[in-house]
Amino acid sequence: MRKMISINVPQIGEQEIEAVVKVLKSGVLTAHLGNGPAVKQFEAKFMKFVNAKHAIAVNNGTAALHMALLAIGVTSGDEVILPSFTFTATAEAVVLTGAKPVFVDIDPRTYNIDSEKIEDAISAETKVIMTVDLYGLPADMQVIRETAQKHDLAVVEDSAQAHGAVYRGKPPGCFADMACWSFYASKNMTTGEGGMITTDRGEYAERLRCIRMHGEKEGYKSIMLGHNYRMPEIEAALGCVQLGKLPEFLEKRRRNARLLTERLSEVRRLELPKEPPERKHSWYLYTVRLRDADAKMRDAVVDGLRKRSVGATVYYHTPIHLMHYYRLFGKQSLPITERAAQQVFSLPVHPGVTLEQIDYIADSVKHVIR
Ligand SMILES: Cc1ncc(COP(=O)(O)O)c(C=O)c1O
Repeated sequence: MRKMISINVPQIGEQEIEAVVKVLKSGVLTAHLGNGPAVKQFEAKFMKFVNAKHAIAVNNGTAALHMALLAIGVTSGDEVILPSFTFTATAEAVVLTGAKPVFVDIDPRTYNIDSEKIEDAISAETKVIMTVDLYGLPADMQVIRETAQKHDLAVVEDSAQAHGAVYRGKPPGCFADMACWSFYASKNMTTGEGGMITTDRGEYAERLRCIRMHGEKEGYKSIMLGHNYRMPEIEAALGCVQLGKLPEFLEKRRRNARLLTERLSEVRRLELPKEPPERKHSWYLYTVRLRDADAKMRDAVVDGLRKRSVGATVYYHTPIHLMHYYRLFGKQSLPITERAAQQVFSLPVHPGVTLEQIDYIADSVKHVIR
C-alpha cells in the first residue's frame, strides 16, 4: 500500500530546527510589546518580500483579519462585504467586531468574489470590502479597489493562501489597505501557527501594534482595547528560515501544478485551474471542478482517490452562509458559490510531491473518473 500523498505537508529541515534551538538557548521567548529580535527580523524580511511599508507579526491569520478590521474601526452596526466561499476565519473576523457579514457570490472561473456583484451589496452601513485570494489566486483587486474608492470603503485582502502570488506584477496587498497572512502548518510557508498584516499606511500599522498588545503603546498603559495577539520568538525564527526557502517551494508547486495540468488536460469531465492574464497563482491548492456533478458524485471521486492514497480534499464543502451559525445573519442564495462547493476538490502539489507522484496522481484521477 502506498503512503498517503497528503494535500499539504510542512517542509521542515535542519535549518528550522537550528533556528528554533537558537531562540530557546537565547532565553528570549517573547517580548512584552510583541517586538522581540526574531519578530522584528521576520517583519523586516516579510515587508520586503511583499513590498509593503509595514508588517506586524501576530499569532495566527484569524487574529490578523480581526485586527485589520479593528484598526479600520469596524464595529457593531457596520457591514462588511466578503465571499462565502472561503475558510470560516474570514467571516468570523467580521462577526468578532460586532459587524454583519454580507456575502457576495463568486466568479465561477476563479472562485474569487465576483467584483461585478459587489456594488449591489453596498449599503449605507458598508465599511469594508474583504477579498480572499482563494487557493492562492489573487482576486480582481484593481476593479475592487476602484469600487471601494468610489464608495469610500476600505479593502482588506485575506492573503492567507497567497504567499508568492502576483497581481499585475505586484504581490498581494498592493491594491488593498491591508493584507492578512497565515503561516498555519499547511500554508506555503509555515511557523506552525502564525500570521502577519502588511500595509503601507502608517496609522494602521500604529493601531495594529497597539491592538496586538492589549492596546498598549508603552508597557502597562492601554490607550485602546486590545488583545494578546503576539507572535512568539520561536515562530518568528521559523518564519525567517521558511521565507528564505519560499522561492524554492513556489518553484516546485508551480512545476507540479503545470505537470498536473498537462497530464489532466485530456480529462473532459474536469475543469482545471487557470491563471487569468496578469495574475500568478501561489498554488497553495490545485483545485479542479468535476463538471455537471453533485456533491455525492464529487465525494465519490474524492473517496476513490483517497483509497488509492491520493490525499484529495474538498475546500470547502459548506459555504459560510449555509453554516448553522452564520444563518443567523439572514438567508442568502449564492448559486455559483453553492455549485462550486458541490463540484470542487483539490489535489496535492506541495513541494514534497515528486514527479513520480504527480504521474501517479494524474493516473489515479483518470482511473477514478473513468
Ligand atoms: C482563507 C483563509 N483565511 C484565514 C485563515 C486563518 O488563518 P489561521 O489558521 O492562521 O488563523 C486561513 C487559514 O487557515 C485561510 O485559509
